[in-house]
Amino acid sequence: MPRVYMDANATTPLLPEVLEAMRPYWMEHFGNASSIHLHGQQAHTAVDRARGTIARFFNCHEAEVVFNSGGTEGDNTAVFGLLHPGDHFITTSIEHSAVLQAAHRMAHDGVETTFVAPQPSGLIDPNDIRRAIRPQTRLISVMLANNETGVLQPVEEIGKIAADTGVFFHIDAVQGAGKIEFDVRKFGCHLLSISAHKMHGPKGVGAMYVRKGTPVDPLLVGGSHERKRRAGTENVPGIVGMAKAAELAMESLDNGTIYRLATLRDKLETGILALPGTGLNGAENGKPVPRAANTTNIWFDNLEGEALVIALDMKGVAVSGGSACHSGATEPSHVLMAMGLDKTRARASLRFSLLKTVTEADIDFVLLAVPAAVEHLRALSPVAAG
Ligand SMILES: Cc1ncc(COP(=O)(O)O)c(C=O)c1O
Repeated sequence: MPRVYMDANATTPLLPEVLEAMRPYWMEHFGNASSIHLHGQQAHTAVDRARGTIARFFNCHEAEVVFNSGGTEGDNTAVFGLLHPGDHFITTSIEHSAVLQAAHRMAHDGVETTFVAPQPSGLIDPNDIRRAIRPQTRLISVMLANNETGVLQPVEEIGKIAADTGVFFHIDAVQGAGKIEFDVRKFGCHLLSISAHKMHGPKGVGAMYVRKGTPVDPLLVGGSHERKRRAGTENVPGIVGMAKAAELAMESLDNGTIYRLATLRDKLETGILALPGTGLNGAENGKPVPRAANTTNIWFDNLEGEALVIALDMKGVAVSGGSACHSGATEPSHVLMAMGLDKTRARASLRFSLLKTVTEADIDFVLLAVPAAVEHLRALSPVAAG
């Protein structure tokens, strides 16, 4: 049976070029980048080269790139590394748990957090951020693209507010990487986090932009790696792989691949929304707000989202639902709930997140599978049967 993977916001496969770039650094060039002998120098050179690529990807200076283990570490570093007892923190109620849980932990240390709610469209209003600022506010953290809806937040406007008020600004850009062009100067941020595995790189490696002079305490201490900003032997193959993935991502943004991806996403979305009892999450007056090119999030009336995820999996389509499993119980998505969906609709929402390698045939396949699965489940549903 053919299988179509439409869960790219969960993770992506390595591209063959990425695997090839990493290959020598597992065995032949296995050195520790801190060693002074030839093996070490080879590893060091590879990390330096990768730093140059990521600096281009961010549009920053090479010294402003810090390699780490991924998005969770970057988000945690921003929160734990900048905030102190008595500080005030502003974030949003639709952030990834890597930011939300870090904020909850900081509450024990006397850091108060304001969680700004989105509008029903999923967009954060920059004026709400501005209104939340107090004299004690030290940090604002807002994501670039939401992992569930793909909605792109107005980070440039928020960056201007941060600059006007002298507050540090962190962007969780994990879901934006490779989908929209980055320019940390334009974004006006002090910190920005990415994760390689969301853009066809390896898992367990990421990078952070740290604007020169930003007083962020390291999360991990030990050796003097990464200019004492992140201790731990560098994951050389991972860093090389992430840089290759970033290089390919920049090409995709330039050569029309991402535009093509958006066109295919729109075809999928239009096809699914033609079904009765469906609607788009991430829209205003029926029109989609700006979103990452690969994501659509759709609600389906009269069925359980989890049942639809399973039914589609059995038909060869991998997607994810608007619920997350917490301590064995299925909870509706905090993102969709914050946007004002009721529990039933949040539970009956599905995220389709496409790989940039998606084909027209994949879309056609899914457009056959979804109506069949929906019809089948609704036929079984006591709600649909009235
Ligand atoms: C928006 C966002 N931030 C952070 C993370 C965490 O990244 P990682 O898996 O690299 O720890 C994710 C992963 O799903 C994410 O979607």
